[in-house]
Amino acid sequence: MTAPSSLETLREFAPTISVGILTADLLRLGSEVSLIEQAGVKVVHFDVMDGCFCPMMTLGPPLIKAVKTPLLKDVHLMIEEPLDKVGDYVAAGADLITIHAESCRHPHRVLQQLGKMENANQAARGLIRGVALNPGTPLETIEPLLGELEMILLLAVNPGWGGQKFIESTHERLREVKKMVQKSGNDILIAVDGGIKRDNVAEMGASGVDLVVTGSAVFDGKAPSQNAKYMIAALHASPA
Ligand code: DX5
Ligand code: ZN
Repeated sequence: MTAPSSLETLREFAPTISVGILTADLLRLGSEVSLIEQAGVKVVHFDVMDGCFCPMMTLGPPLIKAVKTPLLKDVHLMIEEPLDKVGDYVAAGADLITIHAESCRHPHRVLQQLGKMENANQAARGLIRGVALNPGTPLETIEPLLGELEMILLLAVNPGWGGQKFIESTHERLREVKKMVQKSGNDILIAVDGGIKRDNVAEMGASGVDLVVTGSAVFDGKAPSQNAKYMIAALHASPA
C-alpha cells in the first residue's frame, strides 16, 4: 500500500493545527514535540527568520533535520530570496515549505523549482508548496501563482515574533482568499498564522480554514499537551 501524500493527510485531519515551536523549551525540543504528538497534533511549524526579511533570527536546516518525529514538518521561510536555499530545507525534511511572496523577486520560479523536488522523508508524501502573505499584501499578488502551489498561508500578524495580537482584518482576507481558491478550481489548503489562541480558534474553524498555526497558545505555560488538545477540539466545535 502506498503511503498517503501530505496533502491527503492534511485533508483527512482538516481543520487541524500546526504547532509553532518558537516559544517551546528549545533545550528540550525533542520531548516538547513528543508531547504534542501524543496530544494528537499532526504538524509541527518551524519559523525560519533570517534577521533581514524580519527582525529576528531563529533556526535553519540543521535544527529542522535534528527533530526526529513522525509529524509533518511545516517550514515557514521568512527569509530573503529563498530560491537558492529551498533545497536545503527540503533536504532537511520539510513536508510543507512556505515562501513569502514579498521576499522574492521570482516567486513563480521558486515554486516551479520546488515542484521538481522530492520529499526527503519519503517521496510518496510529496511536497506541499505554500505561499505566505503578510497582512499588508494585496491578495491579488497570489492569483498568478495558484497553479503552482498547494497552500496559501495568510499571516494574521506581521512576521517577527510569537505571541502577537491577531489582526482583525484577517477575517475578511480569509473570506476573500477562499472565494479566490474556489474560483480557481485548484486543490489548495488555506492556512492562517499568528495570534490564534483559545479565544479565537473556534472562529477559525467556522471560517473554513484548513490549517491553523498556533505557537504560544500551546507552549506558553506548563501544559502543551492539554493546550494542543483544547485547540484541536475547539477547531471542530460549532461556533458559539
Ligand atoms: C510569526 C510566525 C508565527 C508565530 C505564531 O512571525 O510566523 O508562526 O510564531 O505564534 P503565535 O501563535 O504565538 O502567534
Ligand atoms: Zn509561522
